[in-house]
Amino acid sequence: MILSPEGVRVFPEASIETMTNTDNLIRAKGLIASAERVAVLTGAGISAESGVPTFRGKDGLWKNYRAEDLASPEAFRKDPGLVWEWYDWRRSLIAARQPNPGHYALVKLEEQVPAFTLITQNVDGLHDLAGSSHPLKLHGDIWTVRCTRCTYTDINRQTPLPEIPPRCDCGSLLRPDIIWFGEALPEATFREAWQAAESAEVFIVAGTSALVQPAASLPLLAAKKGAKVVEVNLEETPLSPHSDIVLPGPAGDVLPQLLA
Ligand code: OAD
Repeated sequence: MILSPEGVRVFPEASIETMTNTDNLIRAKGLIASAERVAVLTGAGISAESGVPTFRGKDGLWKNYRAEDLASPEAFRKDPGLVWEWYDWRRSLIAARQPNPGHYALVKLEEQVPAFTLITQNVDGLHDLAGSSHPLKLHGDIWTVRCTRCTYTDINRQTPLPEIPPRCDCGSLLRPDIIWFGEALPEATFREAWQAAESAEVFIVAGTSALVQPAASLPLLAAKKGAKVVEVNLEETPLSPHSDIVLPGPAGDVLPQLLA
């Protein structure tokens, strides 16, 4: 390598980026290959390459509503038809989508790592469709409905729904089995996610803005307990400064490169 007064400008900027990323990729891959316990937290970004819009991205608004305006018990009480219209739109959109290489990489990682935990904020079911055996769904499942009054709950994959808002046989409103803002996460699922974060040697965070709690706390907990945190995202997030390795790029490209 020739010493040059122009310093780094000898190399085109892109190749410097690539070199840095490659080093980080190799480091991350090495950490994962030698780890007994790996946990992964995914967010809407992992499904973006399948064509499912993220919540806070440029296509995140639906009819000018933010997710926070619709995914709440208050919004449902005020206008269940509007909330269901949004979910019916998302359900129809997701029904036509397939998992992408990011989802499949996590299925392979599960086979590779002795103790693997997949934690997801996504409700789209694409991790299940890819073949992940036991995704911990912190925010519920868009394909399950439940009655707001009786104990009825069932899988419902009908798109579009014939009646909006849909009703239970008992006459009451059905709602999607999704955890809304202000509601409690499923206790056992969250406990399992918490324990996985506490014991992970490597914690991968892929495709989440890390703005929604308590999910966003899991990688920080993992770091506190000694895990190396690897972030995969198109953009910097509040978690980036706390991550050991940041891998900028689409999850569908980056995650497959982390496999042994
Ligand atoms: P967000 O929409 O807040 O964030 C998506 C993240 O994915 C952003 O940081 C993007 O930069 C990143 N991203 C986009 N495309 C990507 C790609 N191809 N590869 C890697 N990263 C990519 O979604 P979440 O963080 O999942 O909750 O949002 C958390 C929760 O807020 C959701 O579960 C949902 C929402 O309101 C409820 O509805 C209850």
